[in-house]
Amino acid sequence: MTKLYKAVVAGTGSFVPNKKLTNFDLEQMVETNDEWIVTRTGISERRITEAGETTSDLAFEAAKRAIADANLQAEDIDLIIVGTVTPDYPFPAVACQLQERLGCKEVGSFDVNATCVGFITALQIAEMYIKAGKHQHVLVVGADTLSKLTNYTDRSTCILFSDGAGAFVLSRTEENAEHKGVIYSSIHSNGEHVEALYVPHGGSKHPYSESYEKGIAMDGRKIFKLAVQAMSKTVKETLAETGYKQDDIDSIIPHQANQRIIEAVANQLDYPLEKVISNIKYFGNNSSATIPLAFDLAVKEGKIKRGDLIMHTAFGGGLVWGSLLMQY
Ligand SMILES: CC(C)(COP(=O)(O)OP(=O)(O)OC[C@H]1O[C@@H](n2cnc3c(N)ncnc32)[C@H](O)[C@@H]1OP(=O)(O)O)[C@@H](O)C(=O)NCCC(=O)NCCS
Repeated sequence: MTKLYKAVVAGTGSFVPNKKLTNFDLEQMVETNDEWIVTRTGISERRITEAGETTSDLAFEAAKRAIADANLQAEDIDLIIVGTVTPDYPFPAVACQLQERLGCKEVGSFDVNATCVGFITALQIAEMYIKAGKHQHVLVVGADTLSKLTNYTDRSTCILFSDGAGAFVLSRTEENAEHKGVIYSSIHSNGEHVEALYVPHGGSKHPYSESYEKGIAMDGRKIFKLAVQAMSKTVKETLAETGYKQDDIDSIIPHQANQRIIEAVANQLDYPLEKVISNIKYFGNNSSATIPLAFDLAVKEGKIKRGDLIMHTAFGGGLVWGSLLMQY
């Protein structure tokens, strides 16, 4: 019989730009106020890149930290996957830039565009490679600079989005090892809702031109409802598939899009909010980076410990959604 392996998190790292954009800064830019933003979203401030600071810059710093945390060297990494919708260039991939900047061997590298589910999707792919015995140490990064797509005259979107990066090294262990590592993951999509959250310009439909209209188009109310439904459903499915009970889960790390969405998901699941990891207040929504960033900071703050069962869940433009259960 073909031998199968398990994938465990060997190390984590994260990085955010220095520049803070507070609600009070936004008050100077659009007609809004701190109280409205905090009440409707839970966000007080977010980090955004300076001009010239790129997604690969953030990804590089997070990746270096994850490799060091795993007690490995760059040359030990044998595959690089980056979840991002804001690569430095339309091509090549951020993952390819990381190969060179980190000093990795000439290993395979590619980016995954699954909007805010990019990191869970990349982790799922990494786990499949590891499970099949193809790779030993996969660097998985979620990195985005949504500030580069954001229209800072549109008050309905500019309050939400931000920049950041997080990284895991996922490593191989024997199937019979005590540590469970990644237990189960699932991803889903429904393209019916493409225009509920998308970037209208800059792609092949409306390529860059002088009349290029920068910005993220979003039906906020619709996305809110779909997000709560999708994340609650996928967590329930994962529990049903694996046989775990809600009480077995030590923490849920949801995609950080809106504190009210996070609370509504906890409420629908009847899961205690104090066990749901949230740092949206300080970081806003940095797409593929929210989950690995929240995970890494929770580890550093002692909120997540080795052996804990962690449920990740996310949704994003597409619509896409998914979840991943693992033992840390
Ligand atoms: C965007 C979002 C915060 C808006 O909150 P909301 O409670 O749905 O608010 P609405 O869009 O219904 O707007 C309510 C009012 O506030 C106004 N408003 C919108 N943005 C505002 C702002 N930044 N400051 C002040 N008022 C604002 C609206 O114009 C509207 O005014 P009106 O009633 O006079 O028309 C919320 O819908 C949301 O977070 N949706 C999910 C978005 C998301 O997560 N996207 C990323 C997915 S990965």
